[in-house]
Amino acid sequence: MDKRPIGVFDSGLGGLSTVRAMKKLLPNEDIVYFGDTGRVPYGTRSNETVETYAAQDIKFLRSFSCKMIVAACGTVSTAAADVIGGISEPSTGITKPSSKAAVEATKNGVIGVMGTSATVNSGAFDDEIHALNSTAKVISVSCPLLVSLVESNWIDIDDEVTNAAVKRYIEPILKGGADTVILGCTHFPILAPIIQKIAGSDVTLIDSGLEEARYIKAELEKRDMKNDGSHVGTQRFFVSDKTQNFCDVASVLLGEDISEKCEFVDIFKVI
Ligand code: DGL
Repeated sequence: MDKRPIGVFDSGLGGLSTVRAMKKLLPNEDIVYFGDTGRVPYGTRSNETVETYAAQDIKFLRSFSCKMIVAACGTVSTAAADVIGGISEPSTGITKPSSKAAVEATKNGVIGVMGTSATVNSGAFDDEIHALNSTAKVISVSCPLLVSLVESNWIDIDDEVTNAAVKRYIEPILKGGADTVILGCTHFPILAPIIQKIAGSDVTLIDSGLEEARYIKAELEKRDMKNDGSHVGTQRFFVSDKTQNFCDVASVLLGEDISEKCEFVDIFKVI
């Protein structure tokens, strides 16, 4: 057993989809979350910039002596995979857990990936999926607008603008016959009800946050680092811009008001 917290970070509030799943699967773990809302989006930036930001985010989380560092960000997981994979603490991103789940779920071997431009350009999901199933067909689409729509809290299932954007982005994936779609950006599980409605019930959506949380649980168990049942897990949230919007979306997602647990951090002073 290891009582230290788990450090989770994302470019903004998308990583809350991982936190939501962690709270269910790992209720005894303490979580420190950093959302880099002052610098979101990461997905339209160069790999070098994403790597720099990821290293700074990790540096901030390290000040809490985390037992594990989790990149709850598809862009960091793919475009800065070496940064997250190269640290001394146990760590993970979303690529491996989501790819494995997709390969297990697909019946026809056609897998769609919705991600940011940086994620799609990295080819990381293609590589990971093909390492598990060399004949799988992968259709990747970058969906940059969806990140801004989530950050703006336009997440209602009937939101016309978000529905139109999802329809347009997912069209090539559906036309290509994918029966499984990886939500390869942690902002996108937040839009899962809209994406499922448009894709139809025959399409299996892979929730990258949920798959990542399952992976974290398995890793902690394997390493004998999981907290026992006597401890009730706590959460602390830090953001690099104003807290209000983050707290609004978090309250919908996590089903609780987190404003007392959320603080602004000046990331430029920390790094
Ligand atoms: N949550 C990030 C990701 O999974 C959001 C994208 C962004 O910052 O552009 O890629």
